[in-house]
Amino acid sequence: MQRSRREFLSLAAKAAALALAPQPLLALLPSPAAGQHSAGHEAPLPLPGRDGLYGLLLPKDEPLTLSATAAPGLLPATGASMLAYETTQDGRLYRNPVLVLQKGQRFRARLVNHLAEPTIIHWHGVDGHWRQAGHPSYAVGPGQAYDYDFPVTNRAGTYWYHPHPHGLTAKQSYLGLASFFIVRDAEEQALARELDLTLGVTDIPVVLSDKRFGPGGELLYAPTADDLLMGHMGTEVLANGQRKPVLAAATRIYRLRLLNGSTARVMNLRLLKGGVPAPFLLIGNDGGLLDVPRELDAVFLAPGERVELLIDLRGFKPGQALTLANAPFAPMHNEGGHGAHGAQPAPQAQNAHAGHGGPAPAAPAAMPAAMPLDEGAAYDIMSFRVEREVPYARKVPARLSSLSTAAPAWPQSPPRRLELALDRGRKLWTIAGLTFDMGATPIVVERRAQEAWEFVGAHDGMPHPMHLHGYFFRVAARRGSPQQVAQRAVDASGRLATDLGLKDTVLVWPGESVTVVTDFASPSYAGEQIFLLHCHNLEHEDQGMMLNVRVK
Ligand code: C2O
Ligand code: CU
Ligand code: CU
Repeated sequence: MQRSRREFLSLAAKAAALALAPQPLLALLPSPAAGQHSAGHEAPLPLPGRDGLYGLLLPKDEPLTLSATAAPGLLPATGASMLAYETTQDGRLYRNPVLVLQKGQRFRARLVNHLAEPTIIHWHGVDGHWRQAGHPSYAVGPGQAYDYDFPVTNRAGTYWYHPHPHGLTAKQSYLGLASFFIVRDAEEQALARELDLTLGVTDIPVVLSDKRFGPGGELLYAPTADDLLMGHMGTEVLANGQRKPVLAAATRIYRLRLLNGSTARVMNLRLLKGGVPAPFLLIGNDGGLLDVPRELDAVFLAPGERVELLIDLRGFKPGQALTLANAPFAPMHNEGGHGAHGAQPAPQAQNAHAGHGGPAPAAPAAMPAAMPLDEGAAYDIMSFRVEREVPYARKVPARLSSLSTAAPAWPQSPPRRLELALDRGRKLWTIAGLTFDMGATPIVVERRAQEAWEFVGAHDGMPHPMHLHGYFFRVAARRGSPQQVAQRAVDASGRLATDLGLKDTVLVWPGESVTVVTDFASPSYAGEQIFLLHCHNLEHEDQGMMLNVRVK
């Protein structure tokens, strides 16, 4: 643990010197240290600390300058270069700071683009006028800046931020540009006090991200035409940038804020104690705390989604561990000519490619050096290992917040129902038969209207995590769900525990219809708004599975 902190500091100084000149985006130099952390010993989970990578930053009144730049040596897993948002406050250097804001606070930030291509920051799940939300039409070129200034009106929750320049979102996010935007409020802080939770110590944000490495440990992102269609899959899943890290824990309750920051990989997360699934409590979804905790033993988490869990390590003996792992599931890449891309659970298929079902296998020369980790394989992600026993007599409250998680009220007359088919066009994934056109606004919402939108996943398609900017929606119903989804329904509408409360991203499986209800009166923004609706499979998004939504 000490080792990595020292490394961060010396690398930070080196990178600060290099950051004076704009760095070419893809100059991701392999480091001599590449790969050495993977052998033999366990790496500690990189925790949000007082500075450095994922440092906890409480913005003050002055605007924060976030420089999008290449940071040599920063990636914990291999010591390779990655892209990061760099900033300083009170003499401390932060990379991809975990921004911690109080509801009601004014947030001001200046993005400075030190990349060799356009970029813009999107605050995912954060309320804000569309000009503050990182619409791709506001992307700024190399050397340019963009200013943000808005009040934080969200309820407490685990939100995040990442780039959104059209066609480059996947690459820039994959190469490292992403972190948390955590909002706190009185209700949430009461829970934190009750359970004695401290952010960065016992309340832990963890971004899960799927990566692929070159021989020197450098991050590789070179999607093939097939990757662009199906989503780019890596060979391993990192937690806060580290391979299968370990958190030294105590016999108490921890809060885990999980973000799936992968470009395309869907996960089916569970916790294992000695290889046996252990229950946990789901306490929050995309838009913050639920009404009551719900005991579960697995959750699907798609790119863009967040879950907040409580993990109970009381009763563990020193040396015992709880492992966060992916559980086998059917990825359901049923898309036409590509065959059953892992259509059956493949528990034993760790690190094996399910293969393309088509008649003509790709020539060996075209195959990637390492086969992607199958989405449906069983693999470990990170562990909590109990190292000390502590007295802990807190009780999880029966009630977490005042939020209602009932199925949403149906929109009043005249209710507009929009059917949005998620299907494949001639080459690309489409929403209602359309792909992105920066200047077009195919969906128009009358101001302050409530709308019911039904996402319909094609039977021969693949899962699409659908995300709306600017507003939260509530999931009203799932119909026609595949068995592995239907069996997790918690009510007669077919909703899952992870559908409850406020959502900004919802996973739509092949053959399924998912209805969401959005109240476009809340929040109320001044004037006409142009927000985005898109698939958070970032390869799909960049390829145009995205539409402008005009809110009058
Ligand atoms: Cu997290 Cu438009 O995206
Ligand atoms: Cu978003
Ligand atoms: Cu998609």
